[in-house]
Amino acid sequence: MELSLQTWPKVEDYLKTKNTIIIPIGSTEQHGPTGLIGTDYITAQKIAIEVGEKTNTMVAPPLCFGMAFHHMDFPGTITLKPSTMMLVLLDMIESCYTHGFKKFMFINGHGGNINPTATAFCEWKTKDTDTTLQLENWWRLPEVQAYEKIHFGDENGFHATCGEVALTMHLEKEAFKTIPKTQFKIERPKYSMPMAPKEFRKTFFDGRMASNPGLATSEHGAKLFEIAVDTISKKVSEL
Ligand code: NI
Repeated sequence: MELSLQTWPKVEDYLKTKNTIIIPIGSTEQHGPTGLIGTDYITAQKIAIEVGEKTNTMVAPPLCFGMAFHHMDFPGTITLKPSTMMLVLLDMIESCYTHGFKKFMFINGHGGNINPTATAFCEWKTKDTDTTLQLENWWRLPEVQAYEKIHFGDENGFHATCGEVALTMHLEKEAFKTIPKTQFKIERPKYSMPMAPKEFRKTFFDGRMASNPGLATSEHGAKLFEIAVDTISKKVSEL
């Protein structure tokens, strides 16, 4: 049930019996030489829409931009500052709350979003409203990580991972037709986050972080999609 495909009377009707909304949040950023720039919002949005179908829950349009300043030395990345992202999330929550939404499930596709989202939740809670705010990072679900460990081992990595590239191969098959399948050597340089854009590129020259996305297949992506959707659907039902 996508919010953008409803009319306002339909949203009003929905709110008479249910006050849950799913909000996908992602990023527009480099994902290594063979990953899509839109990976993080595409994965979050598609998982969210499927979870919405399964649980009969309203799904907001995705926040396609996140906190990704460390990827800014790679072309294509569009970032929000941490403070901007927090304010955008607060405005989104406030808008939905004004209409009567009380339970919020944020489905996230990007690690850099975790801190600004947690801060936005804290800021909102200072108002002491009767809202439930929950953040689920699909790639951090134990069920997802267990699958990745079996199939990708320690080549999954931390950015442009096998898992996220596999998931987008399943969701956006057309886009991968023109991307050559390449195996990558894994390097594990020392680093600590947060990193400035130049620092990041100097450390991770092609944008990957200890991953070999050459192991990704759309079949793995289909399985990961199913696992993430099933696991988050249960959490939405329990909200
Ligand atoms: Ni990503």
